[in-house]
Amino acid sequence: MENLKELLMRRRSTRKYTDQVLTQDRLNMIMEAALVAPTSKNSRAWQFVVVDNKEMLAALATCKKFGAVALETATAAIVVAANTEQSEAWIEDTSIAAAFMQLQAEDLGIGSCWVQIRERMYDDNTTAGQYVKQLLSMPENIEVECIIALGYKNEQRKPYDAEKMMWEKVHKNKWEEK
Ligand SMILES: Cc1cc2nc3c(=O)[nH]c(=O)nc-3n(C[C@H](O)[C@H](O)[C@H](O)COP(=O)(O)O)c2cc1C
Repeated sequence: MENLKELLMRRRSTRKYTDQVLTQDRLNMIMEAALVAPTSKNSRAWQFVVVDNKEMLAALATCKKFGAVALETATAAIVVAANTEQSEAWIEDTSIAAAFMQLQAEDLGIGSCWVQIRERMYDDNTTAGQYVKQLLSMPENIEVECIIALGYKNEQRKPYDAEKMMWEKVHKNKWEEK
């Protein structure tokens, strides 16, 4: 494991990937990061679908009109979902698991991108969540939060710059207008 600060600075959304596939071992490591993520009341209501089938990835890439470009070249994707009856904090829980997976991926030199599904539309009548659920035969009581696109990077993004951090967003002891 490298320095966590460096890892946080270096992680950027990757939307273009090479053809190199992720081994099962790498996918398992990424899933382990999700499975140890904290959850409200330790409910662990999340569910994940690991997709590495090319046709299925291509079908996922059409889940919404805009913002799914990363899925077009991704060699794997994790559909991040939850049983909403098991936790009122399922959005937070799934989001934390997704972020953990993105950090683990980066640590392995694998690029990732969050593709938002909740509150997004496939077409005028179908939500992106309904489309994904139908495609993957997921049950009704499961809601999809996002898909994490994964693959080896085929674009270089600049790491975050410590000089450009938005410290004006940070208030100390009480709110101060800045
Ligand atoms: C809740 C959430 C939803 C996002 N939805 C999408 C999306 O649908 N498509 C996409 O390409 N990127 C999506 N992103 C990635 C953001 O665009 C990206 O994190 C942001 O621009 C900052 O860039 P960085 O990840 O390189 O630091 C999403 C990120 C978050 C946290």
